[in-house]
Amino acid sequence: MSKDLLKIGVLVSGNGSNLQAIIDAIRRKKIRAEISIVISSKADAYALTRAGKYQIPTLYMNPKIYPDRDSYTCAITDELKKKGVGLVCLAGFMSILTPYFAQSFPWQTINIHPALLPAFGGVGMYGHHVHEAVLRSGAKYSGCTVHFVDEGCDTGPIILQQAVKVQDDETAETLAKRILKYEHKIYPLAIKYFAAGQLQVVGNRVLIKKAKKGRAE
Ligand code: GAR
Repeated sequence: MSKDLLKIGVLVSGNGSNLQAIIDAIRRKKIRAEISIVISSKADAYALTRAGKYQIPTLYMNPKIYPDRDSYTCAITDELKKKGVGLVCLAGFMSILTPYFAQSFPWQTINIHPALLPAFGGVGMYGHHVHEAVLRSGAKYSGCTVHFVDEGCDTGPIILQQAVKVQDDETAETLAKRILKYEHKIYPLAIKYFAAGQLQVVGNRVLIKKAKKGRAE
C-alpha cells in the first residue's frame, strides 16, 4: 500500500453495489485511492462479502450494543482514524451518525442519496421510502445526489446529481433500479474528483476545478 495514496473508509449496511462500483473504479485506476476499511452496521450485509473478495479489511459494528448514537459515532470515528482514512464514503449506510462525525471529518465525508436533494431527503428517507415518496408526490423527475456530509441529515453541499425521468408505469422497485445504475456512475466520479483535489466547498456550493495535467484520466 502506497504512503501518499488517499485512504478511503466505506460505511455500508446492505447489498453494497455502490461499494462495488467504487472498488471497480479503483481497480480500473479511474480513482487514485485505496479502500482501507469497510464498516458495516449489519452482520449479514452482502457488502462485507464483496469487500472480502478483494481482501479489503472489514468490520461489523452493531449499533445495538452501544448505549446511544453518540458512543456508536465515536466508536466508528475511532476505527476510521486508526486506519488513517482521509475520505469516508457512506454507501447505503442506514444508521444515523451524530454531528461529531462531520466535525471529525470536515468535508471529508460524502454520501450517495437516491433522489434529487434537497427534495426527498432527511430522517426516514432512505431506500424504498425515498422512491415511494417520489411516486406519491407525482414528481416527474427523481435521480441521485452525491453530497458532502455536514451536521444535518442529507443537507450538505451537493457535489454531483443525475436526473432520471419518472415513467408513467413506474413502481418504487423499477425507479430504484434505474436510479441505482446512475449512482454507480456519479459516486465513483465524485470520489475521483475528491481524490484528485478538484473539489472546493464555497458556502453551500461545491466547485469542481479542472484536473491538473497528467493526474486525471
Ligand atoms: C442506494 O440506493 C443508496 O443511494 C441508498 O441505499 C442504496 C444502497 O444500495 N442510500 C440511502 O437511501 C441513504 N439515505 P447499495 O448497498 O447496493 O449500494
